[in-house]
Amino acid sequence: LIQYPHVSRVVRSLFLTAFVAFGIGAFMGVLQALHRTGIARIVESADYYTFLTLHGVLLAIVFTIFFLAGVFTWANTRSLDRPPVSKRFTWFWVVTMSAGTAMAGIAMLAGLLPSIDISADVLFTFYAPLQAHPIFYIGLAVFVIGTWLAGIDWFRQFLAWRREHPDERIPLQSFMVLTTMIMWFIATLGVAVEVVVFLIPWSLGIMPAPNPLLTRTLFWFFGHPIVYFWLMPAYLLWYTVLPKIAGGRLFSDPLARVVFVLFLLLSTPVGIHHQYLDPGIAEGFKFIAMTNTMFLLLPSLLTAFTVVASIEHGARQRGGTGYFGWLKALPWRDPAFTGMALAGLMFAAGGFSGMVNAGMNINYLVHNTLWVPGHFHLTVGTAVALSFMAGAYWLVPRITGRKLYSRPIGLFQVVLWFVGMVFMSAAMHRGGLAGIPRRTAEPQYPQVAFETVAGSVGSLRLQLAFGGVLLFVSALLFLMNVGLTAMNNKPARGLDSALPPALSGPEQSPTVLDNLKLWALIAVVLVILAYSLPLYSIVQGAGLYPAGQEASPAVIAPLLEVIA
Ligand code: HEM
Repeated sequence: LIQYPHVSRVVRSLFLTAFVAFGIGAFMGVLQALHRTGIARIVESADYYTFLTLHGVLLAIVFTIFFLAGVFTWANTRSLDRPPVSKRFTWFWVVTMSAGTAMAGIAMLAGLLPSIDISADVLFTFYAPLQAHPIFYIGLAVFVIGTWLAGIDWFRQFLAWRREHPDERIPLQSFMVLTTMIMWFIATLGVAVEVVVFLIPWSLGIMPAPNPLLTRTLFWFFGHPIVYFWLMPAYLLWYTVLPKIAGGRLFSDPLARVVFVLFLLLSTPVGIHHQYLDPGIAEGFKFIAMTNTMFLLLPSLLTAFTVVASIEHGARQRGGTGYFGWLKALPWRDPAFTGMALAGLMFAAGGFSGMVNAGMNINYLVHNTLWVPGHFHLTVGTAVALSFMAGAYWLVPRITGRKLYSRPIGLFQVVLWFVGMVFMSAAMHRGGLAGIPRRTAEPQYPQVAFETVAGSVGSLRLQLAFGGVLLFVSALLFLMNVGLTAMNNKPARGLDSALPPALSGPEQSPTVLDNLKLWALIAVVLVILAYSLPLYSIVQGAGLYPAGQEASPAVIAPLLEVIA
């Protein structure tokens, strides 16, 4: 990227926003962990939702998506070997995403100032009936538009490359960026309708409160694929950067392409699995969503196979031998490698607890309990976040041209995150099995005694809080290490961004895999099949607005048209 300094600047500014959001979000996280376990109550319980909203939005939306935008800008530019088509356009979407984030951020922070009549204590899922100030929803809409523009920018960059290379296979990293963005364009339609058609007019007071089930369904239409939006940049790093760090080559380029196509097809028609307990959606629709969800295991298992095979290849190139002895030959002292490897390990554990969530019947046991944050702190909170931190140790020196400040601190930091998460997430999972609810500042109820299978609830609370503190310390170490790297006077030497070709290259796979139009079309058809009947029956059953609150037919008619 050094040969395109303005692209480096774009990536650096995206990473900066991501890391600031990460720091504030992590601070909120430790406050929650200490508060809800009763270990240290630094804030008022009444403010808990404000902190939880800041935590969820800043970490699960701002940190992840700004980092994604940085990685995708880097990856598209690197693999196509050309900068985006227009500098202005690139900065335009960076500014749009930042402006939307600032608006939503102001609305959330203002919730802490009682003198100001603005708040957004609606959690990162923000569906009705919780209501935020309009500036929050408008900020979200602007942010999503910014991500669309980013996607358009990466497609334009690709099309410019395609004109000069009409017969070549799409370079792998670019393929990953483009398939992910097609998935994002489809998935964000749900949240765009929810926010623009219902939440903004409602918060402005010009429309009545919408049917909560409808806004929940539109949210989860987007809310599950966003999980893969978080994961795909981590996968991109695992497939393309990790094998290089391990000293080898990607095992199979075709398998990597198949995985991204499967995610494009299967990510969206599954959102209803977040609504197993919602009345008003027929069991049959939920069953279909469950079946689709179980299919999603396939690309994750393919990934586990391909990435481990690539790492093993790397270890054997470095002299590793034996059935398991090769593990010793891996570069465990490199924080970029160890961080990603530990992130992958956690992802496997998260996959298992995810299967429990996904089962329609067993979900009833864990629904809305602490088990659920236990699960997603393994997936987005570690598989994704730790891969991003490890990826930053590899990428930041390459985009700043400065030497990583400290490898030992980096190594200690990634291991500390892993250990902290073992404590926090295990305690959350076990607390969930005991029935302890999530999303509450006061999880103790005088009339209910939570019972654990082994150990006591008190010990679980201690473990949760201890893990939360370790995670927070790890987050501070990470921010310090990348901050000092960005200011380091010592130049990074001998670093290159070239990635070795895969052992089995793209020429070994059918060209239909690169037919993005075909996959986009199939993805849209699957979404229509999965969602048209449930949405129709929700609108038929309870209407757009709860009984007695209907808007006048003159107002509803154009809305119905938009939905149709
Ligand atoms: C929820 C702690 C890092 C995403 C929570 C909760 C705790 C917590 C205790 C549960 C609150 C409740 O249900 O009452 C922490 C700590 C972290 C951390 C101590 C590290 C310092 C992360 C990261 C992500 C993340 C890295 C994502 C990238 C979330 C989300 C929720 C959550 C989405 C759910 C919010 C909601 O229910 O609305 N966190 N977390 N957390 N966390 Fe974290």
